[in-house]
Amino acid sequence: MDIKQLNAFITIANHKSFSAAAANTGLSQPSLSRLLKQLETEMEVELVDRYHRPLHLTEAGMFFYDKISAILTEIETVTSMTQRLSAPSSVLNIGFVPSVLYGLLPEIIAMLKQSSPDIEVNLKDISSYQQIDALKSGEIDIGFGRFAQKDPWTQQILLRHERYVVALSKAHPLADVQEQRLIDLANNRLILYHQTHLPIAKNLLISPKVSKASLRSGKNKSESVDNPISTNEPVTEPLLHLFAQYGVSPYMTTPVSDLQVALGLVAAGEGITLVPASLKTVRTEQISYQRLIHEDVTSPIYLHTLKDFIHPKIPDLLAATYRVYEKRGITYRKQKFES
Ligand code: BEZ
Repeated sequence: MDIKQLNAFITIANHKSFSAAAANTGLSQPSLSRLLKQLETEMEVELVDRYHRPLHLTEAGMFFYDKISAILTEIETVTSMTQRLSAPSSVLNIGFVPSVLYGLLPEIIAMLKQSSPDIEVNLKDISSYQQIDALKSGEIDIGFGRFAQKDPWTQQILLRHERYVVALSKAHPLADVQEQRLIDLANNRLILYHQTHLPIAKNLLISPKVSKASLRSGKNKSESVDNPISTNEPVTEPLLHLFAQYGVSPYMTTPVSDLQVALGLVAAGEGITLVPASLKTVRTEQISYQRLIHEDVTSPIYLHTLKDFIHPKIPDLLAATYRVYEKRGITYRKQKFES
């Protein structure tokens, strides 16, 4: 059995046709068919049912496909990591989610360039979840994201928790209230902009009944934990999750494609939203940003990197981040990479 045969099997399975697989790989149809036959003969197992169109995998073929595609992805990751290890470059590819670009990222990069003038930085806008695949494929060397990830090939360090602020149109009746409570915002349309949802939260379920009750009684977070919430919908949308922690279900929601669009709708008086505090310089002519009294309504910032290969410039980037925090008096806990 060799990698050529395995790749031929995966491509045929993905395209469900010899001709489409051939067009995709640059191999001829007879070559692909021969590679698959060799694999099946060596294994003494029929993997593809050739008598139906589009082609089907046999039950054994489906099992083999699941397992072998994971192994081939690992081989690609290891190959790409080994190449990077043997020739580390002075180019640092950084993935980021948009909300960190509005915040300290430009200042951190300027600080990095002061200490490493030879460095070349490329910035790529990539969601927190996609950063993991991008790290493995070598598309990025480091990612700044807002969600914790579990992956055997990567590690993350928590840089800090950033507080959320509420964004309201300047014409909103609460626009000048400086300390806001989530419960007082519940009667507004909440604009949702996260593309990434939280992993299923086992203990936190939201119920309109509890939300209405808590709205009337003004229950706080600890009270809502005492009062078990009863429908079976886990709250995985990040902003709704924050409201749900306080037993609040906003009266109406509007999902949009990104943060900029959300702030555009807020500016137009279409609703309110919560954003990390570093966004409060955006559209200040139309939007008022106010603090929330809840200290735990925060958005974490994580730095993601590979476990077994740390680009040589990453420690400098982390040091530059900490220097910016110190300069601005931001609270953080120093962390180190596993190596
Ligand atoms: C921060 O706001 O803490 C931050 C932003 C971008 C990169 C790293 C940290």
